[in-house]
Amino acid sequence: MGKIALKGKTGCGTLGAAEDGKSVKVAGWVDARRDLGGLIFIELRDATGKVQLVADPNRNKAVHEVFSQVRSEFVIAAAGAVTKRPAGSENKETPTGLIEIYPEEVELLNTCRPLPFQLDQAHQVDEALRLRYRFLDLRREEMQRNLRLRHEIAQSMRRFLDANGFIEVETPILSKATPEGARDFLVPSRLNPGSWYALPQSPQLFKQTLMISGVERYYQIARCFRDEDLRADRQPEFTQLDLEMAFIDQEQIIAITEGILVETFKCIDVKLNVPFRHLGYQEAMERFGNDKPDLRFELELKDLSEIARACQFNAFRQVCEEGGQLKALCIEGGNEQASRKQLDLWQAFAKSAGAKGLAWIGFGADAVRSSGIAQHFSADQLESMKKLAGAKTGDLILLMADKPKAVANVLGRLRLKLAEELGLIDISRHELLWVTDFPMFEYDEQEGRLMAVHHPFTSPHPDDVHLLENDPARARARAYDIVYNGVEIGGGSIRIHSQEVQSKAFQAIGLDAEVAKDKFGFLLDALESGAPPHGGIALGLDRIVMLLAGGKSIRDVIAFPKTQSGSCLMTSAPSAAASEQLKELQVKNVACEPAAVAK
Ligand code: AMO
Repeated sequence: MGKIALKGKTGCGTLGAAEDGKSVKVAGWVDARRDLGGLIFIELRDATGKVQLVADPNRNKAVHEVFSQVRSEFVIAAAGAVTKRPAGSENKETPTGLIEIYPEEVELLNTCRPLPFQLDQAHQVDEALRLRYRFLDLRREEMQRNLRLRHEIAQSMRRFLDANGFIEVETPILSKATPEGARDFLVPSRLNPGSWYALPQSPQLFKQTLMISGVERYYQIARCFRDEDLRADRQPEFTQLDLEMAFIDQEQIIAITEGILVETFKCIDVKLNVPFRHLGYQEAMERFGNDKPDLRFELELKDLSEIARACQFNAFRQVCEEGGQLKALCIEGGNEQASRKQLDLWQAFAKSAGAKGLAWIGFGADAVRSSGIAQHFSADQLESMKKLAGAKTGDLILLMADKPKAVANVLGRLRLKLAEELGLIDISRHELLWVTDFPMFEYDEQEGRLMAVHHPFTSPHPDDVHLLENDPARARARAYDIVYNGVEIGGGSIRIHSQEVQSKAFQAIGLDAEVAKDKFGFLLDALESGAPPHGGIALGLDRIVMLLAGGKSIRDVIAFPKTQSGSCLMTSAPSAAASEQLKELQVKNVACEPAAVAK
């Protein structure tokens, strides 16, 4: 067989009835092969889709010979005329299903060793196997679709920002620590023995510097590195659409972000309505127990503290007298539907989430049933509880009393669990929400000090600047998060642009002037050098693509992701470094006791 010139090959998935009779060259991977004794059919796949090739021994012996040798994932090229499939054998679901090619020429370009897993059975194999053979896993239609969607989303973002006067600027990867709340990845410097670069947790300080440099509208599809515990929606290296603007206010950044997301959602044919909803942080915590509430269902936390304070039931009264709360979740129809076993499971869940207990009351038509607490309340009080919790006859309420933070944490998580279990989530909804008015700082029990809720470059609310010195825990931040169906897909803030205020913010989190100068001296200098008011936001690109692709793990929308333990199973990274390399870097491996490592 002669060599087929691959130049000018046609995409398998681009062919249809319109090409009937046309001579084409196609090349790709053998997706499936069926040998019917005489005829051999091959489903040939390339990046554009699939097309059916047929070899008939009576028409072309040489082609039939090659077809009888090829196996799954062999790489072949074929040349021949497109013909309409005989009536009855069409697949009307795809345009290529209407046609087939009887090649006049075929060329085997490469073979493939036996597959570690069949591509169409990838869902049944361990993810580790898929990640080990990622080059095969990515051949699957679903993964190709995800990569393409990711590209389209990134392009739509770029187009929108370009049209709105933003320029893309690259910032360094070998950098200095930027505090976003995670551990840094460090890289030793050969030229400066004993010194280390930190990989950026985000381009935060560079983008602020760019504003001070006169770039008024910056964006970057930026790689960020955070050494933190991994979850389904977190990777140690991930991508942000990062942007920053000078001479703006919160409303303008929100409007630009909404514009970006409207374009992004068009990639999955969803039309978003703007403006999105807004909720203050306090209200989100009170009503949903969560600063990123999923608004596709209601199930709000209802405050019953006023009844607790007046009741005879010590466990509830005492908590509320000491500044705690009694809150309830109401399950519609739960009095009949929730079995004792089910209630036990919810109680166990609440306990595992940190609750001391979870009480319940079911409001039947004739009687009230409860976890043994109803007798502590008068009939009037029970009626008030029912009303405040938004319950009707036939409903059941779950109750928890504790400090506000604990109640929000447990009931917020239980709310999500109940919604999943009871099928309350309307998956056709796209709920976008801005959460605003975050506190500047939060007390960290482990660190024993205040920590920035967003990052320490976030501007305090103009009315709260004076609190930075005397009562920083009460200061509100000009920060905002964007939440989609209960997932934080982005966060940003108006920044501090005064050196004086920045120094106070550093002091509030326990960074004394000396350390602040050492770590962020360049920023403090820049802030004193004509810094314009500025602010910005970063959107988590991987999370957005994951949600728009309908997936549950960001690993499925990242070409080469890391496992939960931070390794790349395909390349076996991280791996030991050669002793020569370590010597050159003046880095020594110290065997640590596991306990010492944990510290
Ligand atoms: P923040 O830390 O909130 O803000 O990050 C912005 C968004 O990035 C995504 N994200 C992640 N995605 C995958 N894996 C991770 N480990 C991970 N961590 C964060 C989230 C998050 O909302 N410099 C600020 C932005 C700013 O203030 O402009 C920042 O990085 O979707």
